[in-house]
Amino acid sequence: MISTATTIGQFHFDNCLMNAAGVHCMTRTELEEVRNSAAGAFVTKTGTYESRNGNPEPRYYDTILGSINSMGLPNHGYQYYLDFVIKEQKNNSKNTILSIVGPSSDETHHILKAIQDSDYQGLVELNLSCPNVPGKPQIAYDFETTESLLKSIFTYYKKPLGIKLPPYFDIVHFDQAAAIFNRFPIAFVNCVNSIGNGLVIEDESVVIKPKNGFGGIGGDYIKPTALANVHAFYQRLNKSITIIGTGGVKNGRDAFEHILCGASMVQIGTALQQEGVSIFDKITDELKEIMTEKGYQTLEDFRGKLHYIKD
Ligand code: DHB
Repeated sequence: MISTATTIGQFHFDNCLMNAAGVHCMTRTELEEVRNSAAGAFVTKTGTYESRNGNPEPRYYDTILGSINSMGLPNHGYQYYLDFVIKEQKNNSKNTILSIVGPSSDETHHILKAIQDSDYQGLVELNLSCPNVPGKPQIAYDFETTESLLKSIFTYYKKPLGIKLPPYFDIVHFDQAAAIFNRFPIAFVNCVNSIGNGLVIEDESVVIKPKNGFGGIGGDYIKPTALANVHAFYQRLNKSITIIGTGGVKNGRDAFEHILCGASMVQIGTALQQEGVSIFDKITDELKEIMTEKGYQTLEDFRGKLHYIKD
């Protein structure tokens, strides 16, 4: 029997595919649809301390090669998503990931303390990489702020915590970021969020309204960057830190490549937005077909085993 089951720390998932935060996860109805699909888990829309309406529309746009968005963190507030995942946990549902960010650091601490004191025992993803809030830089591009934030969080936060990262583009940045993350008991890193602040033009106009058209890029455009980030962190991080691969996954081959680079779980963003939750069945079948052709029974048979070209 070929299996696409996987684990993050002590958490087991029957399938390694799930949604990426921000896609099909804003409301309880959407979350239930992902839970009821072939996905092995779901992650909630990044929840902030207060609910937010987000940026003006149009704020998401599909292109042939992917998507651009500047949503601006619309969400129902972290409590809505925390209540939902606690209820799911009581119903013995699939494992869940609760995505959160302040957006200010005071608010991030407030949220994490509330989760620490709650009944929720599942995974939390701290989003260090939202590119779309005007006036707020991405936390993870500021290594000093990232380190001091993690340092204070882990003084009181004792439940399993992962981080969502933006793409990095320089080997020195991979080295510096990994050195910081290796100092903390992080459960997982999720590589990558959208490539921040791209610009898509149709005729003579931008296609989304916020920030005069600038927005996060997802889909085919970002797969090579995503794979590089997954593999760079796979090479550098302590083995206790699991890697989630996100970026440019729309078929079984894309998921296979993320796992080959070192991902234990693979998230689907733009393609899920474009095709709906039936995509989890499609990609699972395609991944299993590739594993059959290659004689692999489990993800461990090929995870991280990317071949290099030697002399
Ligand atoms: C939003 C976009 C992101 O890439 C993210 O990580 C969080 C929020 C947004 O614009 O809503």
